[in-house]
Amino acid sequence: MRILVLGSGAREHAIITSLLSEDADHEIIAAPGNAGINARVDSVALDPSNGRVVTQYAVDNAVELVIVGPEAPLVAGVADHLQRAGVPVFGPSKKAAQLEGSKAFAKRIMDAAHVPTGRAVRAEKVSDAEEAMAEFGAPYVIKADGLAAGKGVLVTSDREAAQQHAEYWLQHGSVLIEEFLQGQEVSLFFLSDGTNVLPLEPAQDYKRALDGDEGPNTGGMGAYSPLPWLPSDFVDEVEASVALPTVRQLAAEGTPFVGLLYCGLIVTASGVRVIEFNARFGDPETQVVLPRLETPLSELLLAAATGGLGRLTKPRFRDAVAVTVVLASEGYPENPITGRPISGLERALEVEGVTIAHAATALADGSFVATGGRVLSVVATGSSFAEARSRAYEALSRIDLPGSHYRTDIALRVAE
Ligand code: AMP
Ligand code: GLY
Repeated sequence: MRILVLGSGAREHAIITSLLSEDADHEIIAAPGNAGINARVDSVALDPSNGRVVTQYAVDNAVELVIVGPEAPLVAGVADHLQRAGVPVFGPSKKAAQLEGSKAFAKRIMDAAHVPTGRAVRAEKVSDAEEAMAEFGAPYVIKADGLAAGKGVLVTSDREAAQQHAEYWLQHGSVLIEEFLQGQEVSLFFLSDGTNVLPLEPAQDYKRALDGDEGPNTGGMGAYSPLPWLPSDFVDEVEASVALPTVRQLAAEGTPFVGLLYCGLIVTASGVRVIEFNARFGDPETQVVLPRLETPLSELLLAAATGGLGRLTKPRFRDAVAVTVVLASEGYPENPITGRPISGLERALEVEGVTIAHAATALADGSFVATGGRVLSVVATGSSFAEARSRAYEALSRIDLPGSHYRTDIALRVAE
């Protein structure tokens, strides 16, 4: 199949690695990709958020499936353009992508579909935000309503900091004040064709920058999958109480959701609650979910894009476990320093079970350099979490990027 993958991060690299591992002769094109991706497949330098340009390229090149990696092209309406031209696209329309693009929209859908979530108040003015914070009490959860590149959410017991965060984001639109939910976080992905859903296996992301869940929120510093501590009926329960009602509600409103429904969940003492939806694969969770997937990814995504998920059975997964650790540039997340050289990748790849998904790299004079905050996702599989962890950290010790940092406690809680 000729497949166009939009995006340039480690998630897209992981998706492409999974497609290449299939027993099929796919022709894969990345737009625009990065240095790691472009070493494996062809690439084209087009703006993934420009629907007209992407669609023209797809039509001219007889692309059979477009996979949209990041949220920005979805919120910009790229899938709508492709759909109108009859190109199969894995990724929701602009309207359905509001599930991620607007936290207020997501809350409204959840309320209408009776999906379990925390209480939230939408504030347009500072006085409304103050009132809601007083009502819910500490710790305070303050969220910018629109896309904020991972910077919109603050969870803090510091009333002054909460107030400042609310005031800052109120200059850009509304904010949500939410009830604080306590428990383990789970990321669970469902493929959706607008009517039917199929689950992938759960993963856990580490959102804070530093060991012990200290420091600021980031896009994600590491992940592991599966989650051995979850009850065996967890996925079925989330499918029935969250994924299906959400997809049905969107379909009933005339905005069917075709693509990846990312359920960000907290398992509280009184049951599972949704803290956020995303409209695309998670990063770095994808890097630990896809290496364990046995069912060919292209079959699943094409079926979702063309209304055919009802004909398929649940995706199968290998027995192995997977861990990923993100290598970040000095200063990430506040002010990442970019342009520094990366070395040792070949030696890192010699470690058994290890692959590397590039997140933000370019080639300069034949060598890799870092071009962003999250630079690489080192992925290791193994028969146990202890084994996968030791492989991932051995590989990381062989990589040099001056000033870089990574968490040392990824998957520690499940490695005996
Ligand atoms: P979000 O962008 O909505 O996923 O929020 C980022 C992170 O903030 C989440 O991964 C949680 O760790 C935390 N968070 C968000 N909402 C809540 C909540 N209602 N209660 C507790 N923690 C939350
Ligand atoms: N890892 C969090 C996300 O992809 O949004």
